[in-house]
Amino acid sequence: MKIGILISGGGSNMVALVDAVQSGEIPDSEVAVVISDKPNAEGLEKARARGVETVIFERKGRTREEHDAEIIAELKKRDVELVCLAGYMRLLSPSFIRAFPDRIINIHPSLLPAYPGLDVHERVLAAGEKVSGCTVHFVNEDLDAGPIIVQCEVEIYEGDTVETLSARILEREHATYIAAVKRLATEFTENTEKS
Ligand code: GRF
Repeated sequence: MKIGILISGGGSNMVALVDAVQSGEIPDSEVAVVISDKPNAEGLEKARARGVETVIFERKGRTREEHDAEIIAELKKRDVELVCLAGYMRLLSPSFIRAFPDRIINIHPSLLPAYPGLDVHERVLAAGEKVSGCTVHFVNEDLDAGPIIVQCEVEIYEGDTVETLSARILEREHATYIAAVKRLATEFTENTEKS
C-alpha cells in the first residue's frame, strides 16, 4: 500500500509512521511521499533523513481548490493509495475528499466526537475533564467528524497544563496512528489478494 503523508509542522506522527513502515511493523507498505504546505516544517528534514521524498506546496495566492489540485496531482502521480494527515493544518476541499474516497485519514488529539477543531487541550482542561486522548478517523467533508478507526484514552492528572497534557497525548498518538494504518494495510493486502 502506497502511503502519502501531509504535514505542516514537527512531524512526530509522520516519523512514527515512516519508522513503522520501514521496520515492517506496518506490513506491505511504502511511504511514497511526504508533502508539506510550509517550507520550514521541521518534519521535512526528518522525512529526508529517512530517505523519504518530500515536496512542498505553499498555499500562497492560490484558492483552496487550486492548492489541493496540485497536491492531488502529486499524490496520484505517485500512485498513493492512502493519505495520512499528520498535523496538516488545512481543511481539505470537497474535491480532495472525492479524489480519495475513504482513503484519507487523520489523527486528532481528543476523544472525538468530543472537542473537534483547534485549541483542544485548552478546552478539555477548562471543562475539568478527567480523561482525554486521541482519535484516528476517516476524513469526510465535516471537520473531525468522519468514521472513527481507533481511539486511545489518556488520563488527565491534577495540575496538568496544556503543555504536559499535549505532550502525554502526543506520545500515545504515535502508537495509535501506527495501529490504525497497520489495520488498513492488512485489509488492503487481503483485498488485493482476493481481487
Ligand atoms: C498532533 O497533536 C495531531 O493530533 C494534531 O497535530 C499534532 C501534530 O503533531 N493534528 P506532529 O506534527 O505529528 O508532531
